[in-house]
Amino acid sequence: MKESVVHLQGNTSDLIIQTQPVVEILYWGDKISGVEAAAIQAVKRAVPNGRLDVDTPVTISPEHGRGVFSSPGMEGNRQGLDWSPVFEFKTIQQDGNHLLITTEDQIAGLKLVCELKLDSQTDVLQVRNTLTNLKTATYQVDRLAVTLPLPERADELMAFHGRWVREFQPHRLKVKHGGYQQENRRGRTSHEYFPGFMQGTTSFSEQQGEVWGFHLAWSGNHRLRSDVKTDGRRFVQAEATYFSGEITLTEGESISTPWVYAAYSAQGLNGMSHAFHQFVRKQIIQFPDHKVRPVHLNTWEGIYFDHDPEYIMQMASRAAELGVERFIIDDGWFKGRNNDLAALGDWYLDTNKYPNGLEPVVNHVRGLGMEFGIWFEPEMINPDSDLFRAHPDWLLALDGYQQPTGRYQYVLDLQKPEVFDYLLERLDTTLSRYDIAYVKWDMNREVVQPGHDGYAALDGQTKALYDLFDELRQRHPKVEFESCASGGGRIDYEILKRTHRFWTSDNNDALERQQIQRGMSYFFPPEVMGSHIGGRHCHCTRRTHSIGFRGLTALFGHMGVELDPVKESAEEQAGFTHYITLHKQLRPLLHSGKVVRIDHHDPALQINGVIAQDQSSAVFLFSQLAMPTYTLSGNARLAGLDPTKHYRLSVLDQPASMRTGGVMKKLPLWLDEEMTLSGAWLAKAGIALPVLDPESALLIKLDAV
Ligand code: DGJ
Repeated sequence: MKESVVHLQGNTSDLIIQTQPVVEILYWGDKISGVEAAAIQAVKRAVPNGRLDVDTPVTISPEHGRGVFSSPGMEGNRQGLDWSPVFEFKTIQQDGNHLLITTEDQIAGLKLVCELKLDSQTDVLQVRNTLTNLKTATYQVDRLAVTLPLPERADELMAFHGRWVREFQPHRLKVKHGGYQQENRRGRTSHEYFPGFMQGTTSFSEQQGEVWGFHLAWSGNHRLRSDVKTDGRRFVQAEATYFSGEITLTEGESISTPWVYAAYSAQGLNGMSHAFHQFVRKQIIQFPDHKVRPVHLNTWEGIYFDHDPEYIMQMASRAAELGVERFIIDDGWFKGRNNDLAALGDWYLDTNKYPNGLEPVVNHVRGLGMEFGIWFEPEMINPDSDLFRAHPDWLLALDGYQQPTGRYQYVLDLQKPEVFDYLLERLDTTLSRYDIAYVKWDMNREVVQPGHDGYAALDGQTKALYDLFDELRQRHPKVEFESCASGGGRIDYEILKRTHRFWTSDNNDALERQQIQRGMSYFFPPEVMGSHIGGRHCHCTRRTHSIGFRGLTALFGHMGVELDPVKESAEEQAGFTHYITLHKQLRPLLHSGKVVRIDHHDPALQINGVIAQDQSSAVFLFSQLAMPTYTLSGNARLAGLDPTKHYRLSVLDQPASMRTGGVMKKLPLWLDEEMTLSGAWLAKAGIALPVLDPESALLIKLDAV
């Protein structure tokens, strides 16, 4: 049979896919040359004894009918029939690094199209599969996944678990036998399992090893799995999951998987993050007018539901003095919203709280030179609301069942045209009436029994949410949106195509944030990571942190302040001003540079930095998370700068406690003497570290001379 091989070439990685006799990825990894017919023959697998008599390829949609006993790439049936399709190659369309490969099973009456794009600038691979029903009878789809093979040496996996106020916690495991699976059925991307993971060679680290990273861009339910077959081959599968009977295709109808974004790095996790960050910057986010990320003040932890326009204007005045550039009124501005028990759905201004309308506040904020933002939670409804009293049938629910509330609220059925239109009208009218630059779009509950007209409808709900965003963004292209779902419950690339920022976590504790933000940094660049300086006494953990540690922790994201500035001490306010000023100085670098996480022998110290793309400068933050393990902290080897250049080292911010004795008698010299060091020295020998007090941090800058 004719063989056909396509070689997609990236900047640092290549992908080789064979289309005949079956569609199978033969190679995905470091750049490779010598892709010749003989070379392809050289990787033809042997056939072991005691098994089927033929080779069993893991195709782009693995098939049981070809003797693959692992998880197939799709599952479904037509009233019990056509349940084991085998897809034969039909056509391939190629446009540079963009492939459309069509396969078909004529017996089962199904077409499967695999779309693959390797971005030649960033090396991010995009894949999705589309299944079409070719017969007149309806086809029920139970599963449809993207499958990507990995080499046998990729035997370690790093994924994320979490919960509300503790998102993006990494866990690692060996994948030697069986595999790994994570599933989210919470109806939103979830705090629990970020839909992404990395697999790599033994002991891969931030800076070392080969790593393959994956992200399923989807804001609904998902399943990710990593399989080790008994013959040692490995593959990853990513899919949106469906409830029973949720997806049925009539003749000619199709369903696509969400996009899977994947990246190969020969330089550890940092290389992978770099690929993803650059891809997000180029292809996912669209900031209106390409403007800088304005520093926020969000009112939530400052005043909660207690909205008094006079006082809010005082807060705004103080915020402007601190250097804040965007002022956002959070939950509590609309009719009857005095606590979290009532009023969601009634998106009309509370005229008891705002007797003169919202205009005085908006005008005041605008007059101070800041942008104005406002909070919404459009998908939700409280049973105690006018909307619910008028439309108890607008819920995403199953008739006849009493579903549990979450934060005293239910979810609206966005697939009902009247619900969609109501929300569109409310948001559109509010955005048209006031000078609003930003909407904080919240989503504070998990979804139970998502029923639409009796049918399972989470897939449709997720797509309807995207449609609502798309329609609003078309009508208000200058308005920015934040994806917030009790903090980090809806963080993924598909929602990011429609939004501009994430509220990373409701946990503003700087110590917890260090870990959460590091976890998020694997897939997301700093400019979309909402990071706010919270109060000295954290509302969520009751820990107390210095302004230094809070300020430096918030510095490396899209910065903001989350408190009532009117009530803060002069010392705290001076701190806010200092860190906001510092952030603004460093913002061009932080929001465009290469994020690096440095491998260090002591996990009590976390080192991260951002290096300018042209290697002209860098900032590094040394965060002491816990008591140092040793009496000295060793050297920090700051890799990533130009080895042939020299850099002037300056200390931008240091903990006051460092100079007051404690555990250190003498500081490393560079803390007090100007030093210029080569990029080669910084990477290989590094600089000696001071021992810092737990929960404090030190910031340095390196500038090419
Ligand atoms: C949850 C969000 O994460 C908070 O920041 C805040 O907006 C509250 N909801 C308001 O109800």
